[in-house]
Formats: sequence, C-alpha cells, structure tokens
Amino acid sequence: MGTNGNAEAIEAWNTVLFEKFSRFREIVTTGLGAHGQALIARHPPRSGARVLDVGCGFGDLTTELAARVGGAGQAVGVDAAARFVDAARGEASAAGVRNATFEVRDVEREPLGGPFQHAFSRFGTMFFASPVAALRNVARALAPDGELAMVVWRRREDNPWVHLAEERVRALVAEPEEHRAVTCGPGPFSMAGADLVSDQLLAAGFRDPRFERVDLPIRIGRDLDQAVEFGMALGPAGELLRLAGAEADAKRPAVIAALRDVFAAYLRDDGVWAPSSTWVISARTPG
Ligand SMILES: C[S@@+](CC[C@H](N)C(=O)[O-])C[C@H]1O[C@@H](n2cnc3c(N)ncnc32)[C@H](O)[C@@H]1O
Repeated sequence: MGTNGNAEAIEAWNTVLFEKFSRFREIVTTGLGAHGQALIARHPPRSGARVLDVGCGFGDLTTELAARVGGAGQAVGVDAAARFVDAARGEASAAGVRNATFEVRDVEREPLGGPFQHAFSRFGTMFFASPVAALRNVARALAPDGELAMVVWRRREDNPWVHLAEERVRALVAEPEEHRAVTCGPGPFSMAGADLVSDQLLAAGFRDPRFERVDLPIRIGRDLDQAVEFGMALGPAGELLRLAGAEADAKRPAVIAALRDVFAAYLRDDGVWAPSSTWVISARTPG
C-alpha cells in the first residue's frame, strides 16, 4: 500500500494528543461539541439507518447518533488511534449502548465497511495526508445517494480563541527549525477553504457539496485558569509550545500572562465563552 503518510499523525493522536484530549475531555467534547449538535440538527440521520462516524475520538457523537437511529439502526465509529477506540468502546459499553461499535481504521487507507446511509464527522477529517483519498474511501463506504455531513473549522481569523492565542505565543516563543516531536498532520484549519474542500469532495466522487457557516460561542474553560491551560496544551499555540520545549518553559510566566489577557475578554459568570466559526458541509454520493 506504499508509505503511510499518516503514520506520524496517527502516532501523535495515539500518544500526546490522546493524553491532552483526555485531560481536557469536557472542553473538547461538550465545549467544542456544540458544533456537533449544530451538525446533527441540520443533518439528522434517518431512524433505522446505518451511520459512520469518521475520526470518532471518544465516540460521544457516535453514541448520540446510535440513539438517533434507534435499535433498528447502527452507528460505527472509526478512528486511527487505538487508544481513542478503546476509550469509546469502554464508555459505550458502560452506558449500555448496544447499537454502536468502534473500529481502529486509518480512514485514508483501510476499508470502512458499509454500506452506510450517512457518514458524519465532527472535526475528524482535517488531519489526512491525502484528503481526497480519504474522502473517496468514505464515499466508497456510503450507499448510493448516501450523505456525508461533516463539521470543520472555518478560517482562524474567525476563531480568535485559537488565532489570537497563537499570535501572542508566537510573539514570545520562536518555532524551532528542527524538532523530533510527532505532530498531528495538516492541522485544524486545513479544510477552512470552501473552494478547496468543494473541489476535494468532487474529486473524491461526491456530488452537490454544500457549505453552511455556523458561528457559535463555545466554552473553552470553566474559568480563566482552565482556559489558559487549555490554550497552552492544544491548538496551534499549544503545538508551538510543545515543539519549543525548554524555550517555552523558560517563557511560561509571560505566556500565561499573554493568554490570560486574550481570554479575559471572553470571561462570563459561567465560564470562558469564545466566539468560534465552522463550516457544516454536506455532500452526497451519486444516486
Ligand atoms: C480533533 S479530533 C476529533 C475527535 C472527535 N470527532 C470529536 O469531535 O471529539 C480528530 C480525530 O481524528 C482522528 N484521526 C486523525 N487521522 C485519522 C485517520 N487517518 N483515520 C482515522 N481517524 C483519524 C484522531 O485520532 C482524532 O480522534
């Protein structure tokens, strides 16, 4: 099958990113998950349908999809990182969910089963080395006239909780020219361009790509301290700090002060709520 261009990203998701996502579980699933709710509200799966959840992470969206399709339907979550799949299996089983299953799959390279009537993804499609190959594989797993519905981040300027944090950290900490750390692949904003992604979908064999902009406030921390910790751990600012290593450690007090300054603008009585913006994208397989 040739060289696996996703190998480094998969290692990152299965190690450092799994650990960070576990630490900030509540923010990444419930907080950012508001965009997943927007996705399902606009593209509800049919009762009795078989649905695929691409890059399912902890599988909370998969189990929600399983509940939506009911006992006659089935939801299958796939993720390339075995630790996410183990966690998803454990949580679904503890919750007594019977119609959700989880499999370790590199969505770009491995068969996904099917046929499914719907494929969903909440922030799970932005990390492929070859997005067209991965989308083509998803199309292959869908039934004729099946629907892909995915949510991806729009441009970083409209996600200031990430963008301003990155700018402020870059002003303090230089990105190392060389490093040995594993990274997550193309990155969270790789599908922000609607022109590019609509071409990718068409090249992958989908038809009728549609894009809806969804702007929502999201909760990125219960208080300022947690939002700063989150900003220092995940997203482009977190990635830069991780790669910079000792230099970042030395600048830690200045970084904390800069991020407190950015996030203070979003502090409310019930947590830190930042503006955020995504595309809810849909496309269908030929009928
Ligand atoms: C930002 S997380 C989103 C997880 C989950 N959908 C959510 O919203 O909480 C991206 C997920 O995509 C998975 N992923 C990355 N590359 C993948 C690949 N090539 N095949 C399958 N999953 C992949 C990661 O392991 C990770 O769980």
